[in-house]
Order: sequence, then C-alpha cells, then structure tokens
Amino acid sequence: MAAAAAYDDDPNPTAKGDAHLISRSLLWVAEKPRVQRMVVHGPLTQRVVKRFVAGNHLEDAIASIQELNGIPVGGILDLLGEGVVDPAGASAAAESYLASLKRMDETRVDSTVSVKLTQLGLSFDKEQCLRHLRGLAAEARSIGKTLEIDMEQSQYVADTVEVYRRLRSDFEDVRLAIQAYLRRTLSDLERLRDLKPKIRLVKGAYAEPEHLAFQKKREIDAQYRFLIDWLFENGTDPAIASHDEKLLSHAREAARRTGAGDRGFEVQMLYGVRRELQEKLAHQDLRVRVYVPFGSAWYPYLMRRIAERPANLGFFLRALAQG
Ligand code: FDA
Repeated sequence: MAAAAAYDDDPNPTAKGDAHLISRSLLWVAEKPRVQRMVVHGPLTQRVVKRFVAGNHLEDAIASIQELNGIPVGGILDLLGEGVVDPAGASAAAESYLASLKRMDETRVDSTVSVKLTQLGLSFDKEQCLRHLRGLAAEARSIGKTLEIDMEQSQYVADTVEVYRRLRSDFEDVRLAIQAYLRRTLSDLERLRDLKPKIRLVKGAYAEPEHLAFQKKREIDAQYRFLIDWLFENGTDPAIASHDEKLLSHAREAARRTGAGDRGFEVQMLYGVRRELQEKLAHQDLRVRVYVPFGSAWYPYLMRRIAERPANLGFFLRALAQG
C-alpha cells in the first residue's frame, strides 16, 4: 500500500518548497466535519491509525511502552484528546490521566506522561486547568514520574507558557514543549530563562499564518538549530524532539561543546516514526523517549502526522476518493 510504505524508516528530507503549503492546506481541509466523517469511516483508516497510535485503551499504550523499554527506550504516555469545551470533560481527562499514572506505577514502566492543556480546560477556565495540572504533577511526583506539557495552536501559547511558569514554582521537573516555527519562541524562552527551563524542542505541527510562524523548512531548521544552542546554554536537560538526523547531530555537537555529553539531553520521537533510528540511537547509549498516544480521539493527531510528510498524503487522498 503506497501510504504504508511512507511510514517505514525513510531518511529522505520532508517538506521542500510547496510541500509546506500542501501540509497547511491539508490541516485546513481536515477540520471540515464532512472530511472527518469520510476519513474516520474510510476503508484505509484503521491500518494507518495503528501505525501512529498504540490503541484505544490504556493497556495498549502500556504494552507498547513495555516493548520500547526492552530496547531500551523510554515512553511518553499521551491520552489523545484536545479542545475540551466543558468542565466535566476536563475533569474526566484529569481522572483518566490519574488512572494512567496509577497503572504506570503498578507496571513499573519507564515513562513520563504528556498532557495538552486544552484537554484540561485551558480554553475556558485557566485556573481549573492549573488545578488539574497541579494534581497530576503531584501524583506523578509521588510515584517518581514526571509530567510534560504539549504545545498547541498559537492562540494557546501565551497561556500555556504562563501556566508552566506558575507550575514550575512547585514542580521543577515539569517539561514544556516549545515550537521552533513560531516567531515569538525566542522571547518566550528569554522570559523563562531565570527558571533554567526544562524544554522539549519541536518544530511545530499546526497550520499557522506567516506573520506568526516561519513557513519554509530551511528557516524552521535554522531556528531549530539556534534554539538547540540556546537550550544547551540556558536550559535544563533539553529534549530534542525530532526525527531529523541533521538536527540530532547538531544537538550531539552542542552537547559535546557544552560538556553535557550524549547523556546530557534526551532525544524524543513519535510512535511509528523512524523506529529503526530510535533503536539505533538507544544502542549508541543516547537517552531516547518515544511519544505513545492512545485513545479513541485520534483524528486530529493522525491528520497532523499525515500532514507532516507529503508522502503520507496518498492515504488521505485515497480515503477521500473512496469515502
Ligand atoms: P521533519 O518533519 O523534517 O521530519 C524528518 C524526517 O522524519 C522525515 O524526513 C521523515 O523521514 C520522518 N518523519 C517525520 N514525521 C513523519 C511522519 N508524520 N510520518 C512519517 N515520517 C515522518 N508538535 C507540536 O506542535 N506540539 C507538541 O507538543 C509536539 N510534541 C511532540 C513530541 C514529540 C516527542 C515529537 C517527536 C514531536 C512532537 N511534535 C509536537 C511534532 C513536531 O512539531 C513535528 O511536527 C514532527 O516531529 C515532525 O518534525 P521533525 O522534527 O521530525 O522533522
């Protein structure tokens, strides 16, 4: 199947020239309810979902993390879901995360847990979101685990950074994802500099307009390299979340230069992407973690994974054609 082949270990560079435009258009089209219905019920969908999502249930994610731990690669457990619009939904997500932490403790997996703040109510009640987050961070700490915060669309960035700053006064270990493609990112980091922030550096996965985000791969990569250097100088235990080997080499070089060394940072990758590379780096004694999503709310996550790689578009177009 053409689409499946695209997910295999493939060292070719992704977006070039118009590819970014195609990805943005795809993310825009993916928001249309009719398109969502066609993809969700499309005949090809389940095979592709399986490639990127551990399964519908917590136990599926735990089993995947146990398998990764054998390599040895750590996990980053993620309950799929975002854009929650009512307090009951946010509380339910927090409860599910508490149950996940309990199960992580029982099974003794090596894993962190990653949350999206809109899942915990950020878009309608920042204080409630912070209360949920504090509860999760405290529970994680009590079992020797750490919490990570994903970064979402640009309209949530200021609040997410603010929530991180407030949480950090009690929970030093929390990690925040920061997106290299956003023009505002360096000033966000400068404002966090006094905390020696613990950051997951990502390129950024949403369709953002040009006045907010760099659009060209070349520009985003240059910004990413600059921010790697910034994090090794000013941050704590940086996580370089990318499958781009040139950027990972840049991080290893920065780690050597600053004396952090290969064990002084984390490499983070996504479930189902560059699996051989994950294993290869773990065998080179780098600290590798893989983001393992589970749950039934996989649609927006899957669309971002497809949009990231133009070669994945074949799946999408075939699903539409057959829908
Ligand atoms: P790039 O897209 O250039 O890919 C490099 C190579 O990796 C490609 O040539 C290809 O071989 C492979 N590859 C990458 N993506 C693929 C895919 N979907 N399918 C098949 N092959 C693929 N974003 C965000 O906005 N907020 C967040 O919180 C996070 N969190 C996060 C956590 C972790 C652990 C990772 C690895 C990534 C994220 N992201 C994210 C996503 C991130 O912003 C970005 O979209 C992807 O990582 C893809 O960018 P790369 O840096 O891998 O480079």
